[in-house]
Amino acid sequence: MTASAAKKKELDSLKEQIRHHNYQYHVLDDPEIPDVEYDRLMRQLQALEQEYPELVTDDSPTQRVGDVPISAFGTVQHQVPMLSLDNAFSPDELREFHRRVTQRLEIEGEGDWLAYAAEPKLDGAAVSLLYEDGTLRRGATRGDGTTGEDITHNVRTIDAVPLRLIGQGYPSILEVRGEVFMPKAGFEAYNQKARAAGEKTFVNPRNAAAGSLRQLDPKLTAARPLDMYVYSVGHIDGGNLPSTHSEVLEQLQEWGLKTCPERRVVEGVEGCLWFYEWIGAKRDALPYEIDGVVYKVNDLQQQRELGFVSRAPRWAIAHKFPAQEELTTVEGVEFQVGRTGAVTPVARLKPVFVGGVTVSNATLHNIDELHRKDVRVGDTVSIRRAGDVIPEVVGVIVSRRRKGARRVNLPKNCPVCGSTVTREADEAVARCSGGLYCSAQRAEALKHFVSRKAMDIEGLGAKLIEQLVANDRVKTPADIFGLTRDELAELERMGAKSAENVIRSIEASRSTTLERFLYALGIREVGEATATALASHFGKFQLIVNASETELLDVPDVGPVVASRIRAFFDEPHNRLVIDALQKSGVHWSETEPEKIQTTGPLYGKTFVLTGTLSGMTRDEARQKIQARGGKVTGSVSKKTNYVVYGEKAGSKLKKARDLHVDTLDEKQLVELLEN
Ligand code: IVH
Repeated sequence: MTASAAKKKELDSLKEQIRHHNYQYHVLDDPEIPDVEYDRLMRQLQALEQEYPELVTDDSPTQRVGDVPISAFGTVQHQVPMLSLDNAFSPDELREFHRRVTQRLEIEGEGDWLAYAAEPKLDGAAVSLLYEDGTLRRGATRGDGTTGEDITHNVRTIDAVPLRLIGQGYPSILEVRGEVFMPKAGFEAYNQKARAAGEKTFVNPRNAAAGSLRQLDPKLTAARPLDMYVYSVGHIDGGNLPSTHSEVLEQLQEWGLKTCPERRVVEGVEGCLWFYEWIGAKRDALPYEIDGVVYKVNDLQQQRELGFVSRAPRWAIAHKFPAQEELTTVEGVEFQVGRTGAVTPVARLKPVFVGGVTVSNATLHNIDELHRKDVRVGDTVSIRRAGDVIPEVVGVIVSRRRKGARRVNLPKNCPVCGSTVTREADEAVARCSGGLYCSAQRAEALKHFVSRKAMDIEGLGAKLIEQLVANDRVKTPADIFGLTRDELAELERMGAKSAENVIRSIEASRSTTLERFLYALGIREVGEATATALASHFGKFQLIVNASETELLDVPDVGPVVASRIRAFFDEPHNRLVIDALQKSGVHWSETEPEKIQTTGPLYGKTFVLTGTLSGMTRDEARQKIQARGGKVTGSVSKKTNYVVYGEKAGSKLKKARDLHVDTLDEKQLVELLEN
């Protein structure tokens, strides 16, 4: 059959797409589409080429595995090519592989006893390390399998890569291969930091490893949490190695190279399947990302007999797990309100099977992230679901965007309670300001309200609050004061006696202090210390409610962020309603006259740092006295510090004061200054 013009066009388009994605992936370390989608394109091309062999050209992507090294690095010729692996996606494909192996090795029967070295298939970047007389001489990427990039300067920054081998008996030339990867914890931490800073995140740990290895500045590589496990040997000279793969790895480990601890020698297909299940069950708990397992015929002599086909060995196969990244479309974007009021955009998706489950929602983390990724309703997106991590939108396939895809903005009001949504300039997260009122935040707000350092309602624990919230009996803290003994007694794990006790502590809590009440309100950033400072500065609740941000800044302990949080809280009418209701239900405290902060005198406007143990007063008392006289107390010494007050066992702060020529005072001198 000869190819029609249409078929040829289809083929050209596939080639062009694959070339584009190869470039994104290998050269830019910035893949646009998930691996499964790439594989689908590749398989389509292969199928077409099989049907029309006359259309296969030398430059077709099917004619090469791997990709061009980028020119910024020197190149390295691999003496022994760095191969890739064939994949099996099912037990049947694995059985087929085993059958081919036993047949070639002329093993009679099932070969149930044939030993395979089974290992996790690490999701990182393949790297070759060359040791000469035990010293690391060169590190290289796989590149196209024959020519890689010289990344010696970068691999040298990885702690798991020994610069010198230890022990004895290693060949004078020893080239090992393995996977450089970014452990999950490091990957998550890196991305979280990048997100908070509004920077680009890594799409997955493999991309993170590959990208980090190809930094031109090794300092950047060194700052990335990379690790490496070796899994095979390349070129060796001047020495010998054991005769099985598992023993070779053991030997490498003794020479100081790191190998994956989750590796086992198993027998036959059943052993391999056991390993697959075993690792699969552990997968989420493993500290590194894997995308399957690898089985290798353990006997090296048998490996040699089996040899290679094109780019892959006949003696090994990768048994893949279901893909963790898939494509789907965004059907809508909704905003969810968390227990702390964080308003998070969530993409509603056309259901897609990914990471072993069907996913129909994915987080977009925060509004900045949504805008940076420019996710619009109707877009085709790539979704990632790794382990027990919440599925996330990795990115948009912009080339597949349809006309009319709709942009999304942060809502002005909380989708749950209608309170104003606010956002601090320095924060990526937007929040609902209806802390006391919003049902999404109810349980958390209530738990805080009753806690020991707040209203101290003994016996009203988390479980009880959750029941009361779930059956809608308690909507705001004020409702707590309307609870009856009888209704409490009917709740789970309660009886007449414990209900009675709870009622009694609710009664007792009505009479409280201003600082406890302020703290109990759960205003963001207002901890106990700030609540105490506010109470003693203003003396009266209403003065705090009415205070402007500038007035709030006069309170020691209150900076611009805290001041704006306090204002936002009291500006929200819903919160004021709850406060009114609380006062109506009898919650009360005694008030005092506002504190007069001195605006003259020797301490006014001066900055103090306290260090060591004072004998006549605590550091807290000293701080209050200094603040009452208009001074400020900070935690660390700088050139702007006016005085460092030191007591017994003063340490580095005193030394720093002397280094910076900051005046120092002992306790006696401080007392004199205070009495001045
Ligand atoms: S053995 C000839 N073992 O998978 C054997 N590879 O598709 C080639 N990989 O480029 C490698 N974990 O980056 C081997 N335990 C493991 C592996 C592993 C991950 C990667 C490696 C290689 C790719 C092959």
